[in-house]
Amino acid sequence: MSDDRRNNFGPGAGRRRGGPMGGGHGAMMGGEKAKNFGSTMKRLSSYLAKYKVTLVFVFIFAIVSTVFMIIGPKVLGRATTTLFEGVMAQINGTGTVDFQQIGKIILFVLAIYVGSTLFSFIMGWMMSGVSADITYRFRQDVSRKINRIPFNYYDNTTHGETLSRITNDIDTINQTLSQSLTQIITSVVTLIGVMIMMFSISWQMTLIALGMLPLSAVLVGVIVKNSQKYFKQQQEYLGHINGHVEEMFSGHMIMKAFNGEERSIKTFEKNNKTLFSSAWKSQFLSGMMMPLMRFVGNLGYVAVAILGGWFVIQRVISIGDVQAFIQYVNSFTQPITQVANISNVLQQTAAAAERVFEFLDEDQEIAETENPVKLENVNGLVEFRNVHFGYDPANPVINDFSAIAEPGQKIAIVGPTGAGKTTMVKLLMRFYDVQSGAILVDGHPLQDFTREDLRSHFGMVLQDTWLYSGSIRENIRYGNQNATDADVIRAAEAAHADHFIRTLPDGYDMQLNEETTNVSQGQRQLLTIARAILADPRILILDEATSSVDTRTEELIQKAMDNLMAGRTSFVIAHRLSTIKNADLILVMNEGDIVEQGTHTGLLEKGGFYADLYNSQFDRTSF
Ligand SMILES: Nc1ncnc2c1ncn2[C@@H]1O[C@H](COP(=O)(O)OP(=O)(O)O)[C@@H](O)[C@H]1O
Ligand SMILES: [Mg+2]
Repeated sequence: MSDDRRNNFGPGAGRRRGGPMGGGHGAMMGGEKAKNFGSTMKRLSSYLAKYKVTLVFVFIFAIVSTVFMIIGPKVLGRATTTLFEGVMAQINGTGTVDFQQIGKIILFVLAIYVGSTLFSFIMGWMMSGVSADITYRFRQDVSRKINRIPFNYYDNTTHGETLSRITNDIDTINQTLSQSLTQIITSVVTLIGVMIMMFSISWQMTLIALGMLPLSAVLVGVIVKNSQKYFKQQQEYLGHINGHVEEMFSGHMIMKAFNGEERSIKTFEKNNKTLFSSAWKSQFLSGMMMPLMRFVGNLGYVAVAILGGWFVIQRVISIGDVQAFIQYVNSFTQPITQVANISNVLQQTAAAAERVFEFLDEDQEIAETENPVKLENVNGLVEFRNVHFGYDPANPVINDFSAIAEPGQKIAIVGPTGAGKTTMVKLLMRFYDVQSGAILVDGHPLQDFTREDLRSHFGMVLQDTWLYSGSIRENIRYGNQNATDADVIRAAEAAHADHFIRTLPDGYDMQLNEETTNVSQGQRQLLTIARAILADPRILILDEATSSVDTRTEELIQKAMDNLMAGRTSFVIAHRLSTIKNADLILVMNEGDIVEQGTHTGLLEKGGFYADLYNSQFDRTSF
């Protein structure tokens, strides 16, 4: 409910998957571990259970596509062998090249590759469908949860964290499902298949090719170890920079007012320098990886070619097999890095899924009653009966609050800052539940209503105005979607907003910007008041709703409100006591208790807390 809807970067944004390796899954990042890998993965796969049949087909297609891919070189090798033997025969004068045979083989290879691609397409199409469907469900679950989670969750969690669950974490799951999962299958199948083919051609050559692996593993290990700290630093400072920019943007004016530009630029430059050096080091080191591995690979290549050539001369194997073998060696390294990366990918996915599940498992609001009361006509009798409440139960904010608001009465709640006035309002709207005691509307405890029904009887205007980017008309109409344009204008007139709206460039169609900084704070308040008026509720709550408008406008609004509120119950919290003089009942709060209650004249005569409060204001404003 605070003004804090600017957090687009959040703490989670800094830990986006990075690193140029491993298909976007940040091979070098590591560090992010799920607390309970097993049960998280089990739960994630329960989401997959619904797509069992599709997944079986995906697996089959992945395997078939890969097997076709693996057979290709071996068959193509036969063409080379046929050509070679034909040429040799021609030289020796014993025969000719069998081009027909070669053509057949090549057509066959073509068919194999086309088939492989086709299966791969189908597989990708099916898997994308599944993963899009699952992430859609995830997002939906999270979004529903957001509306069911009690307010005190947000008291303890930053918006950025919640945001990053919806965006980053679900995105990670999506990527794993749509890409990594099939990649894992094809990599494993490729690895096994290629190995079989290689051994079937020549075990000696295979051993040489495999012998290069430990060498590149050591090299990769060294690089990863060295670059990891730079990757971490890069992520960390990226987060710092995002945070800094965000802070400076949202507090642009204040920052300038305190001449903070220099300081801000210095901080930025310091962070930017660190980011620069860590970024280029990490990029350089990881960029070195591929050339080095290729170099090692080429060493193996040369060895294999020499041995292969010798075998051909010895007539141990055919020349086509050597060609196929070299192709296999080539297609060997990629699946190895992918397989080596599997545990990383799974860990990251588990960590992301765990965070999403944790959020979905947060305590919900107390469930709605089985048999909610549904009043045709709400009279607006509100009773507070010995209400006790604390945001933290051990730390009470409201102690034993009792009061009765008769239907149609105007109730003012006054008291110093922190007395608990807004808290009473939140309890009345059932944003929080009372710890003991009860709040009753027309004699029914709040818990007996559904939340939706209850809130439909209330209109609320807060000091923290909430407007969204859209036209002024849309913002007012938020109070009642069925209102006509004429209704909107009438509500704006009652809120004394009509006049200023008409002086705006586009009048009612003026677009409010994202932070609604293109209208003044007082004007924002008038708009929210117009919205509440349009909603036409039985009970109206104004919590310091007019604190940002001038005294004259405030009094005008109060008059309009009083007319409007005739026959409805209203709760008004106001700083300027002059505006609530005509209230039917004034509740004077201090430190969570009602210390006095009565009418303005009654309380003044009493000469207590309220009289002091009123006189101190009156003294000051009379100068
Ligand atoms: N979301 C919250 N979590 C914890 N404490 C809160 C929260 N909101 C308000 N408080 C505390 O409750 C007390 C009453 O606050 P509030 O009802 O907002 O006072 P006010 O009378 O100024 O409207 C204050 O001490 C405040 O610090
Ligand atoms: Mg308040």
